[in-house]
Amino acid sequence: MEKKLKAAVIGLTVGQWHVQDYLNNPNIGEVICCDTNPEKLNAMLEKHGLSKGYSDYKEMLAAEKPDIVSVCVPNFLHKQVATDALEAGCDVLSEKPLARTAEEGREILEAARRTGRKLMVNFNRRYLDNSIALKEWIDQGKLGRIYYATTKWQRVRGVPWWYPLDDAKRKVGGGPMIDLGVHMMDLCLWLCGYPEAEWVSGKAFSEIAYKEAKDHGFNSLDVEDMGVAMVTMKNGMMMEVEASWASNSEIPSDNIETRLYGTEGGAVIKAGCDKCSLVIIGKNGEVEVQEIPKPSRRLTVRDAFVEAVLTGTEVPCKPEQAIMISKIIDGVYESTRTGAPVKL
Ligand SMILES: NC(=O)c1ccc[n+]([C@@H]2O[C@H](COP(=O)([O-])OP(=O)(O)OC[C@H]3O[C@@H](n4cnc5c(N)ncnc54)[C@H](O)[C@@H]3O)[C@@H](O)[C@H]2O)c1
Repeated sequence: MEKKLKAAVIGLTVGQWHVQDYLNNPNIGEVICCDTNPEKLNAMLEKHGLSKGYSDYKEMLAAEKPDIVSVCVPNFLHKQVATDALEAGCDVLSEKPLARTAEEGREILEAARRTGRKLMVNFNRRYLDNSIALKEWIDQGKLGRIYYATTKWQRVRGVPWWYPLDDAKRKVGGGPMIDLGVHMMDLCLWLCGYPEAEWVSGKAFSEIAYKEAKDHGFNSLDVEDMGVAMVTMKNGMMMEVEASWASNSEIPSDNIETRLYGTEGGAVIKAGCDKCSLVIIGKNGEVEVQEIPKPSRRLTVRDAFVEAVLTGTEVPCKPEQAIMISKIIDGVYESTRTGAPVKL
């Protein structure tokens, strides 16, 4: 890989990690920062000794013509910013969720197809050590056929009050389902070979956080504080999902775990543990705790994107997968309204 890419990052809160990873990637020749907030922009330039910063992303795209762009702005801006970057000839890595709805996601995908550019979604949980290790076990057939999975990101109190929650449905698109649930569904479905979803029955609850909104400067909160879903896949597998910003449950906050039930074994994968470990349940019910050694080199989601761009191969975190997840979440909101399961 000889060519060095010019990378731009638009939006610098979570975007700071994109900047960091691009600076660490030997295939990136230059990193350009963009944020409408001048303090944030200047702090990032100063921290990394970078010279090129813009407050207007359209001006940046026209002047710099970057090869790749990370879209790290709030959800309601993903479609416009990603489409503008694709139309400027850039390959795009969009933060999750790809969009607020499946329809909006399809419009971004359409722009990628029209322009012939790559579009990838920043599903970074696939690149954690224990995710990679478990995927290897599954690909070796150790769990057999996975027929049921539960995937959860549970918080007792953990509403991201710094999000634009004044108009949350429009600006964020939803609550924890769209914020945390997308990560968990992607991880779970990726581990299971991404079967296609067919039915969803779910509920978006609003029971706790809205009562605390005023304490945080908001008049109300128009999105859920906990979402649950039961999803049936076309291959017969079922996936249970729970994502909460606030819940009265007896759990450590944040409790992030995925459980897989296979015909030959099962597995539990938990985030946030001191040690990186997998619990594998074998054929005869024997339990094995597998400590995962830290890899000497870690491939980040950003490295995987750069590799796909430079080698001209398919991106690993595909927009079609993100759109299927959005369809499930759209289905949860519809199921909440109608009280009935939704065919996807
Ligand atoms: N992958 C993850 O683990 C992860 C974690 C947190 C957030 N996210 C995602 O990242 C996105 C951003 O979230 P955040 O927490 O960083 O939000 P944020 O609101 O804290 O930061 C967004 C940044 O974008 C800037 N911005 C807004 N409009 C802009 C524009 N038109 N041009 C340039 N800059 C602009 C803002 O000034 C701000 O600095 C969201 O889609 C969120 O879902 C992903």
